[in-house]
This record gives sequence, C-alpha cells and structure tokens, in this order.
Amino acid sequence: SMNLKGRSFLTLKDYTPEEIDYLLELAKDLKTKKKQGVTGNSLKGKNIALIFEKPSTRTRCAFTVGCVDEGGHPEYLGKDDIQLGHKESVEDTARVLGRMFDGIEFRGFKQETVEKLAKYSGVPVWNGLTDLDHPTQILADFLTLKEQFGSLKGLKLVYVGDGRNNMANSLMIGSAKMGIHFTVLSPKELWTDQELILECQEYNKVSGGSITVTDTVDEAKEADAVYTDVWCSMGEEALAGERIALLKPYQVNAELMKKIGKENTVFLHCLPAVKGYEVTEEVFEAHAEVIFDEAENRMHTIKAVMVATLGNL
Ligand code: CP
Ligand code: NVA
Repeated sequence: SMNLKGRSFLTLKDYTPEEIDYLLELAKDLKTKKKQGVTGNSLKGKNIALIFEKPSTRTRCAFTVGCVDEGGHPEYLGKDDIQLGHKESVEDTARVLGRMFDGIEFRGFKQETVEKLAKYSGVPVWNGLTDLDHPTQILADFLTLKEQFGSLKGLKLVYVGDGRNNMANSLMIGSAKMGIHFTVLSPKELWTDQELILECQEYNKVSGGSITVTDTVDEAKEADAVYTDVWCSMGEEALAGERIALLKPYQVNAELMKKIGKENTVFLHCLPAVKGYEVTEEVFEAHAEVIFDEAENRMHTIKAVMVATLGNL
C-alpha cells in the first residue's frame, strides 16, 4: 500500500496519479464506513490547527468533522485570532504551531504562506485554498466524477468562467495528472497562465489527457462534466463590474448546457454559488443532487488526506 505519512498537501503538482487515486479510494472507503455508522480513531491524540485568513463553510466543516470522526482535536484560528504575517512572521507562527500541533490546515491569500508554514512547522500542512490553488476541492470533484462515471481517464471536463482563478488552475493540474481532457471556456482576458499550461502539458504526456483553452463555445463540445465557479473570488470583490461585463456571455444556462453537453452531462460547482451570474437557478437546481454530493465529498476526501498523511493507519 501507499505511504504518504508525514507529507504536506500543498498542490496536486506534488502528487503522482497513483497517489491521487489512492487518496480517492481511501475517501471512498471512509465514506462507505461513515454511511454504515463506522468512524475510526486514526487521529486519536492528534491536534490540528485550522488557520483561516478567508471565510469558509465547506472546508472548515470538512476539516473539523473529518478530524473529530477520526478521534482528533481541531482548533480553529480565524484571521482576527492570530497575528499571522502582521505582528508575527509566518516563519515564527509556523515554528510555534509545529511545537504544539500535529498538522496544520491553511486557507488564505498567498501560496507562499502555505509553503512557508510547511517548511518551518515541520508537520504536515494542508492547503485549504489559496489565491492560486485549491487541491482538496479537486479530490472531492474527482470522487464525485468517479461516482458518476466509474473512472476519470478520458472524461471531458469543461470549465466555464474565470480561467485564471484557483479553481481553473487546480482543475487543470488535477485533470492533467489523471488523464482528463480539460477545456477552459473563458474570455481571452481571463485565460489561464501560460506557464501553468506548459507545466500541465508535461503531465498530460504521461496521463494521455489534454488541454484546450478557448473563448469559443463551438470548441467546447461533448462535455461529460461542466464546471463553473464564482466570477469574483474572495478578495476580488472590487472587480465585480468588469468581471460581470467580461463573463456575462459565459453564464452556464440551459442554452449553454445544450450546446456543450450531452444526454448525461453533469454540472459541478465548488460552491458557494451566485445564482443568476455564473449559473442560472434552473441549471443549478436540475443538478442539485450531484452538486451536494460534491459538497459532501469535501468531508470524505479531506478526512482521507488527514488520515493518509497523519493518521495511524
Ligand atoms: N468549496 C469551498 O471551498 O467552500 P468553502 O469556501 O465554503 O470552504
Ligand atoms: N474561486 C473561489 C473558490 C471558492 C471555493 C474563491 O477563491 O473565492
């Protein structure tokens, strides 16, 4: 079996396809057990710090419930509770938390902060979202796709909207690792960073996946799954006006689903959703069952990451 003990989880770039698949299978197993009322104790005696510079519903609750289910103790540290990067350097806070906690989750702005926490704390650090990446979300999305389609390889996933945000980036990385044909349908102004595309094309050489970046609906046909995210990510609220103008033609509505989807196309959204903007109420409600499976799967997959990297398996 796979040994991920002691590893941090900062981006899926650091994980092989086999390791990602192992985490998905572990999550599936933990989910089945939880449905039977069986939880574990692999985090017994472990204390984990949950640092949040930005708000959260799913990620915070998934780490909290996942940790408690496995017998561990989670401690929430909100942005006004600690002085991270303001009155105390990230390096110093990391060294303190590393003396007291067995694992650290971080959600915030800079990818550099989560990297520093990992470097200076000496304990596993899990990325609960940064401006650049949201790797735990991808595990939940991929578990959901496996539940829907059986396997990931060869699926066609079309991401519609802000092609430069953390979700576009991390879906591109995850898809390239797992052999998914990934399309970004987005206005040119919001196309994904070219350097990341080149990096992911290297993963695709191994996995057989592909990347298409286009502003043309006609080039995004036959999707197995359509995915969108908010037009303004946390911290970008001031950009609302220009984003709405840019992205209005890229709303996921019934017409777009008809054009780029097939009979069994699923619609995914990491949530929270702003209905009437990136997705219509109609499309959202038509796919609500899978969307909330996806939200539930945040818990099972995050639990799997903690158990695999920190737990007594
Ligand atoms: N999808 C997601 O990360 O949700 P939260 O912001 O509520 O954690
Ligand atoms: N792109 C969104 C994702 C939320 C889960 C944000 O960063 O706000």
